[in-house]
Amino acid sequence: MDYVPLGRTGTMVSELPFGTWRFGRETDAGNVEIDCQRAHELLDAYEAAGGRFIDTADMYGSGKSERWIGEWLADRDREEFVIASKIYWPVRTGEPNGRGLGRKHLRRQIDLILDRLGTDYLDLLYIHRWDDATPVREFVRTLDGFVESGRVNYLGSSTLWPNAWKVVRANAVADEYGYEPFTVVQPRYNLVDREIEGPYLEMCAEYDLGVVPWSPLGEGFLTGKYDRDDVSSVDSRAAEDDRFAEKYLSDENFAALDVLRAVANEVGASPAQVAIAWHLHHDLVTGPIVGARTVAQLEENLAAADVSLTDDQFDRLAAAKPGPFAGIESAPARGIDGRYDTW
Ligand SMILES: NC(=O)c1ccc[n+]([C@@H]2O[C@H](COP(=O)([O-])OP(=O)(O)OC[C@H]3O[C@@H](n4cnc5c(N)ncnc54)[C@H](OP(=O)(O)O)[C@@H]3O)[C@@H](O)[C@H]2O)c1
Repeated sequence: MDYVPLGRTGTMVSELPFGTWRFGRETDAGNVEIDCQRAHELLDAYEAAGGRFIDTADMYGSGKSERWIGEWLADRDREEFVIASKIYWPVRTGEPNGRGLGRKHLRRQIDLILDRLGTDYLDLLYIHRWDDATPVREFVRTLDGFVESGRVNYLGSSTLWPNAWKVVRANAVADEYGYEPFTVVQPRYNLVDREIEGPYLEMCAEYDLGVVPWSPLGEGFLTGKYDRDDVSSVDSRAAEDDRFAEKYLSDENFAALDVLRAVANEVGASPAQVAIAWHLHHDLVTGPIVGARTVAQLEENLAAADVSLTDDQFDRLAAAKPGPFAGIESAPARGIDGRYDTW
């Protein structure tokens, strides 16, 4: 697996990060999606494939994701890995300061995260969401303190689309006061969820931000394993999740899936591999966060690193379900070199 630059930072990362959202996560029906043993097998498989970029969050599995990664890392050279985590969601229900981006919550969470992961520092800390209740300067300054003290190397923001202005605003505050800016974003992006195309992705290009998309397979839809009418027959946690069927099992999405299947046939790969390879072919994407519930799924997905697409195949896939801004004339994506060097 190749290494690529993490946006404009000085850190190189694996082109396929591994996502651990489902470690220790309980489904609505009360089943644990990935237990500790499976989590360690998945991390072993990821490492064996050459992967070194791990994505977690303080709320994944109520802290189990970070703890299990920490236990696994204890037998390894931490310096080989790039570890990203996130803060925002309530982790202590009922406590008014147990959520968001207020200084009290951020400072408590960063200590807990580092403790669970068994490390002195995070390579990348994202705000998991924006917090309207906390002044921007308060959280930007607090996050800057984490970088200043060496507990965090870089800052990122997750899931703020379509509000590109939020990243721009936070970074304008950082610029004004000499604080560390956000250099990486983590939005949802896949062949059937294309909302970031247009102003949000242009903002990323303009400011040279790393783009690390989540749900590159539309939570499994783009593997092609779902029938239009019968989700319950599929081996998947989605079978227990009405929201998944409502969101993904539409005629429009199945039409896009037909195009994906056709390209997969042409290149002799699976639909999942082609959906991931599409990101690897994308000029503005650093690397999509690969998720998997089993080792077999993960191995299939990581083999996408060996799948090549032509520009024509990339374009056909992109045209299969265009984003909301498709066809709207917009400003040039690339900024003037060096103009935003202070970011
Ligand atoms: N920042 C955020 O707010 C945010 C939000 C979501 C995710 N993320 C990050 O992004 C990562 C990936 O997200 P995601 O899990 O939604 O990614 P995804 O790749 O869209 O979906 C992964 C799921 O699809 C199914 N799957 C994957 N590969 C498969 C294969 N080859 N064959 C059949 N089924 C397969 C598995 O679920 P089943 O087997 O159960 O069907 C797997 O858990 C997360 O772990 C997390 O790190 C971040």
